[in-house]
Amino acid sequence: MSHAQTSRAQLSHAPDGASTTSVTSHAPVTSHTPDVLVVGGGIIGLVTAWRAAQRGLSVAVADADPGGGAAQVAAGMLAAVTELHYGEQTLLALNLESARRYPDFAAELSETSGRDLGYRACGTLAVALDADDRAHLRDLHELQRRSGLDSAWLSGRDCRRLEPMLAPGVRGGLRVDGDHQIDPRRLSAALVTACERAGVVFHRAHAERLRVDRDRARGVVLGDGTEVAAGQTVLAAGSRSGQLAGVPDEVRPPVRPVKGQVLRLRVPKAYAPFLSRTVRAIVRGGPVYLVPRADGELVVGATTEELGWDTTVTAGGVYELLRDAHELVPGITELPLTETRAGLRPGSPDNAPLLGPTALPGLLVATGHQRNGVLLTPVTGDAMAHALVTGELPEEARPFTPARFDPTGPDAAPVEQPV
Ligand code: GLY
Repeated sequence: MSHAQTSRAQLSHAPDGASTTSVTSHAPVTSHTPDVLVVGGGIIGLVTAWRAAQRGLSVAVADADPGGGAAQVAAGMLAAVTELHYGEQTLLALNLESARRYPDFAAELSETSGRDLGYRACGTLAVALDADDRAHLRDLHELQRRSGLDSAWLSGRDCRRLEPMLAPGVRGGLRVDGDHQIDPRRLSAALVTACERAGVVFHRAHAERLRVDRDRARGVVLGDGTEVAAGQTVLAAGSRSGQLAGVPDEVRPPVRPVKGQVLRLRVPKAYAPFLSRTVRAIVRGGPVYLVPRADGELVVGATTEELGWDTTVTAGGVYELLRDAHELVPGITELPLTETRAGLRPGSPDNAPLLGPTALPGLLVATGHQRNGVLLTPVTGDAMAHALVTGELPEEARPFTPARFDPTGPDAAPVEQPV
């Protein structure tokens, strides 16, 4: 029996209690106690589970729908350079480190899972449509230059030479050859397969409450009442990471949902190549991006809305995305619109992730990746596996300790104050 089959067999027994034993609480308890239980089967939880299993730990994941989550909506830009913001220099270093690891990570995951990830080293073109946009892009270029990043200023004509579908009015742009893309849906599916092949056990149920006993996290109680014990528990539930009952307030990750609406269109073969790289712009103060996949999908994103748990696709959201994308690339109105969807980014107070051990022994977090979850997947997996094995974060991840948000702790200080 393969590892994957073993995982499924254990899993299929859990809900009906066939592989459970009872304890004094009379709740069913899974018979196997893994070294690590990851709460959340999105890309961050899955990469943590996969990398930890590769390091020899026994790992389980609790999620009703592993491979779901925000990655089902995300466009998959690996945009360390074009999404640089003032006040995010520390985050930039982590983003660049993850971007540097992406080619090897994608090759290894693709080979392990036998799946194509849609990884494209295509580069990005960020363009300006008017004088204000151009001033903004010039500022970004200067910030990139000061940060030692590769980007080249192009005239409007040179932008259109690269991407003939761009609007004739484009006033200039930044060519960033190092900002690539991956298909997050394919990435999720590949991580599920890689986890199964590495022997990760999936509990396809919602985690309801953290088990804390004698001042230590000891696993979770699932929605069906099953107790899953574990040596270490990783909270990696995306925007819902702050919602798990039983987590003491001082270690509860301060993440919030940040809504993003995204459209998917299809480029008919007769129109290909429609765009050869990711194209983006700031239009009326808001970012819009078009991410062309090798398989003909064209992803247009994204709104940024602070509306709590709302995932409604609105006429206004779709209208604004189409209006702005149309200004950038007028020909998109000819394309079939195949999907509209909204997802929730896990926002953190300083826009940077929370990684590693918390002040509660046995509890770690991997959340708060906000706009950069897909980009930060490789470095997060490596950092979390390192922390699970050694108890410490590796050098590059240390600024992202959750201790910076523990008001009672000595390390309280956000990574930086975005402006
Ligand atoms: N990184 C793109 C977004 O979050 O919309």
